[in-house]
Amino acid sequence: MSEQLHISRESKLEAYKGLLTQLASLVKDETNIIANLANISSAIHMTFNYLWVGFYLVENHQLVLGPFQGPIACTRISKGKGVCGTSWKEECTIIVKNVNDFPGHISCNSASVSEIVVPLFNRSKKVVGILDIDSTTESEFDTTDKHYLEQVAQLISYFI
Ligand code: SME
Repeated sequence: MSEQLHISRESKLEAYKGLLTQLASLVKDETNIIANLANISSAIHMTFNYLWVGFYLVENHQLVLGPFQGPIACTRISKGKGVCGTSWKEECTIIVKNVNDFPGHISCNSASVSEIVVPLFNRSKKVVGILDIDSTTESEFDTTDKHYLEQVAQLISYFI
């Protein structure tokens, strides 16, 4: 069965609304975590064409690289390190307008200028991973991204 995304690109808001609806449909009948995260990273990447979209999952007290779209990336991040490790430790979404201004930012690709990282909670409200998105544009991410990407994380919480 071929899967196609039909996303309006009139605005970021319209794109997110369409994306969320289609992501819910895409994952509703699939229980495999990797398969769902792979499709979710692909769908976000195709919708917004960001530099990097992907997941790190908690394994043995570290974040380990999971499904993603974009250039190769570092495979392990310790708790409290970088934007991802800080989001995990603080259990909150972090928006970075310019990565050069984030102390301890981990640069996986020199083309990354701004970043948003959203924690993934399981049903027991434990952080089990993060969603990380990098853009080549400064100040790419705002409260709209935060709201809708946290909705994506909510969707993920149902199967992770
Ligand atoms: N920039 C992230 C590391 C992951 S790469 O961007 C994919 C950080 O500082 O945690």
